[in-house]
Amino acid sequence: MQIAYTVKEVREQVKAWRKEGLSVGLVPTMGYLHEGHASLIKKAVEDNDRVVTSIFVNPTQFAPTEDLEAYPRDMEKDSKLCETLGVDLIFHPEPEEMYAPDFCTWVDMDVLSKTLCGKSRPIHFRGVCTVVSKLFHIVTPDRAYFGQKDAQQLAIIRRMVRDLNMDIEIVGCPIVREEDGLAKSSRNTYLNEEERKAALILSQSIFLGQKMVQEGETDAAKIKAAMVEKIQSEPLARIDYVEIVDGLSMQPVDTVQSPTLAAIAVYIGKTRLIDNFIV
Ligand code: PAF
Repeated sequence: MQIAYTVKEVREQVKAWRKEGLSVGLVPTMGYLHEGHASLIKKAVEDNDRVVTSIFVNPTQFAPTEDLEAYPRDMEKDSKLCETLGVDLIFHPEPEEMYAPDFCTWVDMDVLSKTLCGKSRPIHFRGVCTVVSKLFHIVTPDRAYFGQKDAQQLAIIRRMVRDLNMDIEIVGCPIVREEDGLAKSSRNTYLNEEERKAALILSQSIFLGQKMVQEGETDAAKIKAAMVEKIQSEPLARIDYVEIVDGLSMQPVDTVQSPTLAAIAVYIGKTRLIDNFIV
């Protein structure tokens, strides 16, 4: 497995693979890899001749008040995991390699990025779209892999690829959960013992909403109210949002029908966690 730190190194390697007629999959990550990332990498290894994983904590998707500096990093552990899983190349650039000092070109999106996480994180998806576009230009993958846990991000990237005619297949992979239900996230590491227990309220409210849908409930307001009530029963939890939206447009719906997305963001102490289910 190769570790590349520069755009030039990645381009040279991908060019060599292309000459051999090999397909390339990309798994973009911010590192501190967990089983959720591992499931994306495994799928990419299955689908492609060569796999690139990027490990880059992208500064432009964090607001100044957010956790850019504190975001967990462990390159040694990540490299070992990538090697075990069959990654061919890790792209691990410094921020200066990705952003020139006078960088000023952005990929931004209307509508889809203004709801849900976009409300409390107004610059987040501009940073995500920009860095993902850059990675797509650098790696030129046939396929790119993203987790369903970041459902809005996945919908936004699909839309960006469609709107900008990028010739890349976007593969969404299911949420991976801890045994007790908590969705895997690099940010789970911020939780102390008491908060880790309290964080279960997210998956419990997701499972409750899912059960209501399975039992035939289609009234979005009723499902939302039940999920809100469940989360509010946990004293350490503070709701950012609980929304039931159309899975493509991210706009609120009254009636649950496919594809509907029920998405939540909840603070447990200072840690903001997200979870969702899709109908
Ligand atoms: O989901 C993430 O880890 C990040 O948002 C991504 C897609 C790697 C872009 O920085």
